[in-house]
Amino acid sequence: MQIHVTDRHGKRHTLEALEGFRVMEIIRDWDLDIKAECGGACACGTCHVYVAPEWAEKLRGPLDEETEQLDMTFDVEANSRLSCQIIMTAELDGLEVTLAPGTEKERAAA
Ligand code: FES
Repeated sequence: MQIHVTDRHGKRHTLEALEGFRVMEIIRDWDLDIKAECGGACACGTCHVYVAPEWAEKLRGPLDEETEQLDMTFDVEANSRLSCQIIMTAELDGLEVTLAPGTEKERAAA
């Protein structure tokens, strides 16, 4: 299985993905620039991604805690998700996401 991730510089990466892993973990394990400060606890918003429209409807909808965390996150769009809340399954083989710009602090450091 694979996922496709566009980084903050517009470069698209194809990453091998294992079922059961969080998409955030896959992106982090491949050393792309994702902070994921809370380690997947849905408490930081630094794993924010935009999901390609054709994939958005294939994802299970966000739970309340994800929606609440997104409310406190920068640059949220209709297709925003927290990648720590997306669990890889066979149906998501080929998933396409783009890393969100990140917090002001992250942007300043980029
Ligand atoms: Fe912190 Fe996803 S890693 S909200």
